[in-house]
Amino acid sequence: MKRRQLLFALGLSTSLALSAIAGCSSPQANGGEGSSKKLTAVTSADYPPFEFFETERGKGKPIGFDVDVANYIAGQLGYKLEIVDMDFNGIIPALQSNRSNFAMAGMTVTEERKQSIDFSDPYHTVRNALVIKKGSGIKNFEDLAGKKVGAQLGSTQEKVAKNQAAKIQKLTVESRNKVPEIIQEIKIGNFAAGVMPISVAKGFISNNPDLEVVLIPNQEALSIAIAFPKGSELVPEFNKVIQEMKRNGKMDELTKKWFEDYYANQGSITK
Ligand code: ARG
Repeated sequence: MKRRQLLFALGLSTSLALSAIAGCSSPQANGGEGSSKKLTAVTSADYPPFEFFETERGKGKPIGFDVDVANYIAGQLGYKLEIVDMDFNGIIPALQSNRSNFAMAGMTVTEERKQSIDFSDPYHTVRNALVIKKGSGIKNFEDLAGKKVGAQLGSTQEKVAKNQAAKIQKLTVESRNKVPEIIQEIKIGNFAAGVMPISVAKGFISNNPDLEVVLIPNQEALSIAIAFPKGSELVPEFNKVIQEMKRNGKMDELTKKWFEDYYANQGSITK
């Protein structure tokens, strides 16, 4: 658990500072004529253990499950990889405008997204949870009537919260660019809950003993995949390596490395 405790101490400022830097760079998509084979990936490194900043091991670069998977795939296919951090909400526009070759950001596959971007085969699954103040007794969305709930801007969790708000009396939803901002709002009592995958929530609460996490009841596991600009020729190449990784144990190895209890908690974290 040491690793997780360290990383959340870093919190907001590092990731915000780095997103500012990332905003200034201009990734070159598709490694044009004459350049070495290079790919640029975008992520939102506020999402441990998928992608996050931790000075000790990352030295200013994002680390995590997605980063390892992306590096492995790029390595197998003979590409150099540059990973650029941005707010999650900017990721789909970055792909649509071809400013990035792919995104690895714990992204959920949805039919709606498939209209504007392409997805690889899924490489992971998540289930959503509510992060709450310890002892607040909240168990589900119904308990949040009259309260404010936070979610990441542009995420499927924001959609889930908004759908609930349409049904539940006076439940309001506020969005934030980065997940640690949501955690802060819960800690100061502004949000009664935050919606995020249980694997991400668990990391945050391990360093915040005033918080706890409850799995949202009755939900399907959500597929996580790599996202590409529509029509990208990389999709079949990437899928080939993903399938290889599932066969040769590499995906298992990386899953175990980053999600300590993914397999132990079948039924809560995964399908
Ligand atoms: N799984 C959610 C989605 O696809 C949220 C992903 C957020 N990712 C991140 N790196 N912050 O919308």
